[in-house]
Amino acid sequence: MGGLENIEVLQSEIIKNDDDNVVPQASEQFVYTSHVRNLTDKAMAFLNVGYSVHFAGPAGTGKTTLAFHLAAERERPVILIHGDDEFGSSDLVGRDSGYRKSKLIDNYIHSVVRTEEEMRSLWVDNRLTTACREGYTLIYDEFTRSRAEANNVLLSILEEKILNLPSMRRTGEGYLEVHPDFRAIFTSNPEEYAGVHKTQDALLDRLITINVDHYDRETEVQITMSKSGIPLSDAETIVDIIRELRMVGVNNHRPTIRACIAIGKVIAHLGARARENDPTFDWVCQDVLNTDTAKVTRSGQSLMPEKIKEVIKRVCRKNKAQRKATIRPVTVD
Ligand SMILES: Nc1ncnc2c1ncn2[C@@H]1O[C@H](COP(=O)(O)OP(=O)(O)OP(=O)(O)O)[C@@H](O)[C@H]1O
Ligand SMILES: [Mg+2]
Repeated sequence: MGGLENIEVLQSEIIKNDDDNVVPQASEQFVYTSHVRNLTDKAMAFLNVGYSVHFAGPAGTGKTTLAFHLAAERERPVILIHGDDEFGSSDLVGRDSGYRKSKLIDNYIHSVVRTEEEMRSLWVDNRLTTACREGYTLIYDEFTRSRAEANNVLLSILEEKILNLPSMRRTGEGYLEVHPDFRAIFTSNPEEYAGVHKTQDALLDRLITINVDHYDRETEVQITMSKSGIPLSDAETIVDIIRELRMVGVNNHRPTIRACIAIGKVIAHLGARARENDPTFDWVCQDVLNTDTAKVTRSGQSLMPEKIKEVIKRVCRKNKAQRKATIRPVTVD
């Protein structure tokens, strides 16, 4: 009886390309200082009332990390898209990928195999369509790297909450109502002009932009400790060195927190300390900071190795003096 299990239906009109959605979990290493909390609280308030948010700021200011953290707090699956110059809107929403031959095989009676073939138009859902349909959180990282035409599809999603799918019109699915739980979190780096397309004002007008800059000292120290496992005094010294070097040269956004984390990880691994007289600390700093600082030159010679040495010396001495001052002498009666 039945026999349904014997009927293999090999047809589908919409292929959901959602194997790359993830449900992120809040990381234990995520640092939550009052500065970070202030940013996440603001962004979450906008998301909760239905807006999509956009973190804009220079490299290494925590934009992607904030986006993931918020997405994890929403407890909805996440679809991640990285902006790409090659994107067309079909890469975001999907496309009609020609026709698919579908086959119905009925082998209920073993000796008789009935086969029916049918040609159907095939629509391949892309990530944005899946996110809109299912109400997922979309993280669109570095969205300004995609061409403005490719991003145009986002206008009606954000405003009218409708996804326009012109190639699906003939099957009656030309429009998709965006799920009420759908939210998008965008990131961009306005400093980075190479390969970045001027974003159309219409899109920015539909987003709440939160400008981010380098974190405050306390947050940078906490992140360095959390990501590398070094003690507080070492993290403070590294962060102070990086913050001072950020003021040198033409690009005041580098070195970033990534340099603090890298120096911290390497000295932790080598058992070194962030101290003036630790030779390992000196070469690790020089190597990690090499690319960020090579541009400051005099007569073709980079001035930075000397500058780095000088800053290391000054910061290490200052922090050592502060540590001494805060250690109270033990008084014996
Ligand atoms: N709140 C935080 N807690 C822990 N680590 C953090 C936090 N914010 C940032 N970081 C760490 O700092 C580094 C830089 O952060 P992130 O990659 O998010 O910056 P970004 O602004 O997206 O940079 P880019 O513009 O280069 O993509 C990463 O290693 C990240 O793990
Ligand atoms: Mg990023």
